[in-house]
Amino acid sequence: MCGITGYIGKREAYPIVIKGLQRLEYRGYDSAGLMLYNQDETSVFKTKGKVVDLEAIVSEENRHGNICIGHTRWATHGVPNDVNSHPHVSNSGDLTIIHNGIIENYDTIKNELVQRGYQFKSDTDTEVLVNLIEEVQIQEKCPIAKAVQLALNDVIGAYAIAVFDKKEPNKLVAAKLGSPLAIGIGENNEEFFIASDASPFIEYTKNAIYLQDEELAVIEKNTAVEVRKIHDDSSVEPEIHALKLNLAQIEKEGFDHFMLKEIYEQPKAIIDTYRGRLLPNEGIIRMAGVEEYIDRFKSANRIIIIACGTSWHAGLVAEYLFEDLARIPVEVEYASEFRYRNPIITEKDVVIAISQSGETADSLAAIKMAKEAGAYVFGVCNVVGSSIARESHSGAYTHAGPEIGVASTKAFTTQITLLTLIALKLGKEKGNLSNSDFHAYLQNMELIPAKLEKILAQNDLIKEIASGFSDTPSCLFLGRGYNFPVALEGALKLKEISYIHAEGYPAAEMKHGPIALIEDDYPVIVVAINKGHYEKVVSNIQEIKSRKGKIIAVVTEGDVTVKEMADYAIEIPEVDEALSPLLTTIPLQLLSYHVAVLRGCNVDQPRNLAKSVTVE
Ligand code: G6P
Repeated sequence: MCGITGYIGKREAYPIVIKGLQRLEYRGYDSAGLMLYNQDETSVFKTKGKVVDLEAIVSEENRHGNICIGHTRWATHGVPNDVNSHPHVSNSGDLTIIHNGIIENYDTIKNELVQRGYQFKSDTDTEVLVNLIEEVQIQEKCPIAKAVQLALNDVIGAYAIAVFDKKEPNKLVAAKLGSPLAIGIGENNEEFFIASDASPFIEYTKNAIYLQDEELAVIEKNTAVEVRKIHDDSSVEPEIHALKLNLAQIEKEGFDHFMLKEIYEQPKAIIDTYRGRLLPNEGIIRMAGVEEYIDRFKSANRIIIIACGTSWHAGLVAEYLFEDLARIPVEVEYASEFRYRNPIITEKDVVIAISQSGETADSLAAIKMAKEAGAYVFGVCNVVGSSIARESHSGAYTHAGPEIGVASTKAFTTQITLLTLIALKLGKEKGNLSNSDFHAYLQNMELIPAKLEKILAQNDLIKEIASGFSDTPSCLFLGRGYNFPVALEGALKLKEISYIHAEGYPAAEMKHGPIALIEDDYPVIVVAINKGHYEKVVSNIQEIKSRKGKIIAVVTEGDVTVKEMADYAIEIPEVDEALSPLLTTIPLQLLSYHVAVLRGCNVDQPRNLAKSVTVE
């Protein structure tokens, strides 16, 4: 939710910040804005729309200066318009702020400031914050860093902010609570970068500090970064990380869209997830984060899985995996419901939090609650060092690499890969899986990437099938068992990027309502592989066919029965049912992608969505 970036140093700052904002657009794209400081003056440019719209309003002669802060917004307070866009400027015109997060008590603070004569142009919480900082600075007659620190002690909410004060033009002040903030350190401390993640500055430096919650950084050109605790102003020794990210990982590399690139990256991403963990020759699965707490896992009364969005669907697949392979009862919870439901949590519960970004506000709050109740929390995250990863007792990274398309693809299949490894390991440890079954699974797991390549090779066929239903206003996705969550994920993918109304259902549930939708040519996408409840799915397909629905089936290679009934069929290689979601998901991702492209939708940045949801 919102991306922030900034530069202070010796170079022209504008191109660095514009490029940085483009890389952060996955975090929100309702509006964009920046502030440039040049020849003792600040200029602010901001507009509703995307970073390209921002570029269009900054003329060549205004693009100069060595200090710039920029923002790309996912609207929370106030509709997305020019006035509500960031940066926001204080009443005196001296202070400028960019902010990712939400200030919950902004209304109370705003009322107090209005009584003191402050005026507000926007409806945002951020404009309130910058004026609060200004008021503190005036009252305390203190430097900007101190004013930010004092003001933040009066604030309830979440933030990653950067503040610039025209009166102290050699520095930027940054602070964080809840939302992420990285600081790139240039050579000899001559220049510094700030950003919501490291992508805006990877071509300039590999050294970065990740601010921790409740930390404030004073970033002074040609000096250094000084980090302090917000609540008591005590000094902190920051840890400097060597960045592993490279440019190729955040570029499209010839693909039309990031989503397509990320779909194609899945064979490699899955290998990266199981590398060093899946060891078929040794007959073991090695996972330090699980081994360290193996007794908690083995003695768990139940596993509670907490997640949102696509990660929640990965959690549903894990429910089948853990119950089937390890015989541990599982509950899968939407984090937003769980945290407000007064749930029963005990010390015998294992909580698994699944999150690509590791920043999702509801998931983070839910695991904090579970920890307080004594549960052991295991984090499954993609982003290294993210809040959920840090908040968990132990965990494992999916190592999918940066996922930039807002619609999640490789993050989902790598989450399932990791959860499958855990379920297999626990199944073995608990004696629920025989040696031979365990070994067979290890070997079959290693074959998944090559099988996935075979599905990707059918891209042209899938594109052709997509053109057969891309103009539908609505469609259904059906699956059973392990492939019921895959149907849910298929429907989510289609609706989020093509805006076609789509619903996922367990195939047998269709007759309890959704069947009423079926009429001539109504598209129904059915996962009908030859494992699990194949015959029952075949009956469900008959029911659709007799009502003249259009059937698009995902079948196993060599299938005859379903292929004869279906209007279109996409084949996947033979696979165990427990491993099948790793394959059946792929055709559904490609179908959604092609439908969205055919409908002229912005596949990588679907309307109203953001990739990282740091507000509840
Ligand atoms: C947003 C994204 C989804 C994602 C969900 C949960 O809605 O658009 O793709 O599945 O958040 O995010 P997380 O980072 O916790 O997996």
